[in-house]
Amino acid sequence: MAAGVINVASVPHRSPFRYPGGKTWLVPYVRQWMKSLPHRPVEFAEPFAGGGIVGLSILFEGLAQKLTLVEIDRDVASVWKTILGIEGERLASAIMSFRLSEQSVRSCLSSSPKSEFDRAFQTILRNRVQRGGIMAPGASLMKRGENGRGLASRWYPETLARRILSIFENRHRIRIRQQDGLQFLQQNASRNDIAFFIDPPYTVAGRRLYLHSIVDHEKLFRETSRLKGDFLMTYDDAQPIRALATRVGFDVHAVPMKNTHHEIMRELLIGRDLGWARASRQLSQDALFEELKADGNASRQAQY
Ligand SMILES: C[S@@+](CC[C@H](N)C(=O)[O-])C[C@H]1O[C@@H](n2cnc3c(N)ncnc32)[C@H](O)[C@@H]1O
Repeated sequence: MAAGVINVASVPHRSPFRYPGGKTWLVPYVRQWMKSLPHRPVEFAEPFAGGGIVGLSILFEGLAQKLTLVEIDRDVASVWKTILGIEGERLASAIMSFRLSEQSVRSCLSSSPKSEFDRAFQTILRNRVQRGGIMAPGASLMKRGENGRGLASRWYPETLARRILSIFENRHRIRIRQQDGLQFLQQNASRNDIAFFIDPPYTVAGRRLYLHSIVDHEKLFRETSRLKGDFLMTYDDAQPIRALATRVGFDVHAVPMKNTHHEIMRELLIGRDLGWARASRQLSQDALFEELKADGNASRQAQY
């Protein structure tokens, strides 16, 4: 892996979402984790899928054969259901032919969806025109947007259609469950042919970012400790989370990342044994901090 690893502009964006709390920056770590496993799991699962960027990357890079996305939010799940169902191509076409204006946006977002397809289109549009991609109640439309393009500054019809179509083409390998991630973990606890990437809503920021932001973290740690398959969790670096991890005997490793305000923060990786994260010279903290500083505008220019 090259030293440019953490530059998010270098990770192909395969998701149609620009997801608040999205984990594009973590993809290089997850690749490393998957490669460290003695047996490559058949399936990769994201019990708190959101934009699903990690799972899509793993699937498209051939590091797992199948992907399961689990998401409790009805709107977010509708996007995945539509892309992976018979209307995936229609969704791509609808995005291509939508004429974006303040009026068309407001009219679409204020209507109540009459079908799963309508809900999916509305959700993608909302994700693209609201500030920070936030879809939780109370989030507002972007005003100035970027490069003076206002509402259209994150609306890339061709790019979105292309991403949707490549997911659609792989639909036989991807499934979506609109379900509680904790329940999914319980149901799949005895499987050893599956790896779980667990990225729940964060303790503090989650409330503002997601409609469903309350998770019983203690229970999540308990259920995770019962998994037969390997897992990687990620959390904000908070003392109560470290305490929960220690209590169930998990390994914890803090890594640098850059938040949406381009500040460098620490985030926790949690797993059974994170030796692979510590061992990797390319993923060394110093290199990553340097990389993040040098990253400059690159991530801002990428088409999220
Ligand atoms: C931190 S975000 C995941 C971001 C994702 N890793 C990405 O890169 O796009 C957490 C997600 O969990 C979802 N969620 C919240 N509670 C859930 C639950 N009980 N079961 C499944 N999903 C849940 C939220 O709707 C949100 O999409």
